[in-house]
Amino acid sequence: MTLSIEQAMTHTMHTFDGVDLHALAAQLPTPFHAYSANAIRQRISAMQSAFHGLDHRICYAVKANSNVAILQLMANHGVGADIVSLGELHRSLAAGIPAEHIVFSGVGKTAEEIAAALAVGVWRFNVESLDELRLLQQVAQLHGVCARAAARINPDVDAGTHEKISTGKSENKFGVSIDEARRWFANAGKLSNVRLDGLHAHIGSQILSLEPFAEALRRVEAFRQELEADGHVITSVDIGGGLGVCYRQGHDHPVAAADYAALVREVFARFQGTLVLEPGRYLVAEAGVLLTRVIRVKPGVDRSFLVVDAAMNDLMRPSLYEAWHEIVPLHRDSREMTRYDVVGPVCETGDTFARDREMARCQAGDLLSIGGTGAYGASMASTYNSRPLAAEVLLDDGRYAVIRRRQTMAEMMAGEQLPKVWNEA
Ligand code: LLP
Repeated sequence: MTLSIEQAMTHTMHTFDGVDLHALAAQLPTPFHAYSANAIRQRISAMQSAFHGLDHRICYAVKANSNVAILQLMANHGVGADIVSLGELHRSLAAGIPAEHIVFSGVGKTAEEIAAALAVGVWRFNVESLDELRLLQQVAQLHGVCARAAARINPDVDAGTHEKISTGKSENKFGVSIDEARRWFANAGKLSNVRLDGLHAHIGSQILSLEPFAEALRRVEAFRQELEADGHVITSVDIGGGLGVCYRQGHDHPVAAADYAALVREVFARFQGTLVLEPGRYLVAEAGVLLTRVIRVKPGVDRSFLVVDAAMNDLMRPSLYEAWHEIVPLHRDSREMTRYDVVGPVCETGDTFARDREMARCQAGDLLSIGGTGAYGASMASTYNSRPLAAEVLLDDGRYAVIRRRQTMAEMMAGEQLPKVWNEA
């Protein structure tokens, strides 16, 4: 049986990818993250079919959800990786993603990271500054190899998203101006160990309209045509990630993959090389829920607090970006509606999942599902307040597998030690 994406994702029912969430929560202590393998496969195939026939490679942005089992699911479907650290490189390779399907992005690549990525043979480096380009040349020369590189363009476009996840404005730290990139290409002949033959642009995340993409991609393509006219060979254009998803029914209206692909086909109609896509959120966000139980209902002076056992350390998005996540009580009986501030146990006012949220009345022990947590949930988790990292489970057609067990106290403290040996620096 293969579930449709709607069936797999619906949280109004008590099953997720065919797994009864009550039964699951009876076996695993809350809080834990649960991901639907079917929902992820559906997104992969939606994107693959939207771009069918176009020379392209999907490189999943590992930062969205870096669990090795999720990465293996990507690998099994021919999806590569967009990485930003050696940790992500390590995870991707461990999951079976071939190095030649890996692109390396990020403003702070160090000589050590570049050397390690060159040693395993990553496909290309998305270069974000002149200093990095020079370092790439040096390290590649030292190792006697040739690095393939793309210039990350900052197209100075407002992605219309939260300021903390916008990356394509000139005031952001990412990429370089087209003017600067033009100089890089003009001098590229002097780089003996770097083949600068690609362009890259990623303008932000959770983008809900086509216009910012259209504007950015047109600038990139115009620049590519200019470079081509000047005799430069551009073999790949990486158009980044950023496709938004629906966190709130009736409120968020995401761009369909097919419409996004139609835009890309139109803009790059004259381009002969490979288009690289770096979706993160689109592939995994709606495939995840965070399951949590009510610890207690605490009446306040002018509001009621629903204190749950998940907290900002398990899901940072509401605290960091005031992000809206659906919260669905999973009790089976019908109850009157009321309003709560849904909060975690962490000692900060920011540890709030929702304010004044209308929902069915809850009591201690009730199970809740927080939706849309498959991306930037577990991957951004911390052990703040010394709360061990939550478990992660993968659901697939009525079965489940624990893909990360909850951290033990010993694991949480691993690496810490008392100062028995004092060294001179
Ligand atoms: N490519 C690059 C170079 C990126 O920096 C990112 C995300 C992506 C691709 C994937 O973007 P996506 O398709 O997921 O939008 N923690 C924030 C999101 C930060 C995104 C950072 N870069 C959040 O929870 O909303």
